Amino acid sequence: MKHFRKLIFVCNGSDCKKAGAKKLNKDLKSLTDEAPFKGSCKFIKTKCMDMCKTAPNVIVGDYFCKKTTAEKVLLQIKKS
Ligand code: FES
Repeated sequence: MKHFRKLIFVCNGSDCKKAGAKKLNKDLKSLTDEAPFKGSCKFIKTKCMDMCKTAPNVIVGDYFCKKTTAEKVLLQIKKS
């Protein structure tokens, strides 16, 4: 049986930090520490993705989450 971890890229550039990327990162880590997601996600902090107008930005698989929240990212993780 194969076990895949989903890669989630969270922008930590200055504009995304101002828009709440640090809190988003904390929320995502605490939410994915619980039951169905535990051990299935790997968070990677990135530098600016050049999409600052839509901060905070997160990439889940091949989906780009703009102006996102932890809940929206979780929904996307469930879908992918
Ligand atoms: S700081 Fe996040 S896209 Fe530029």
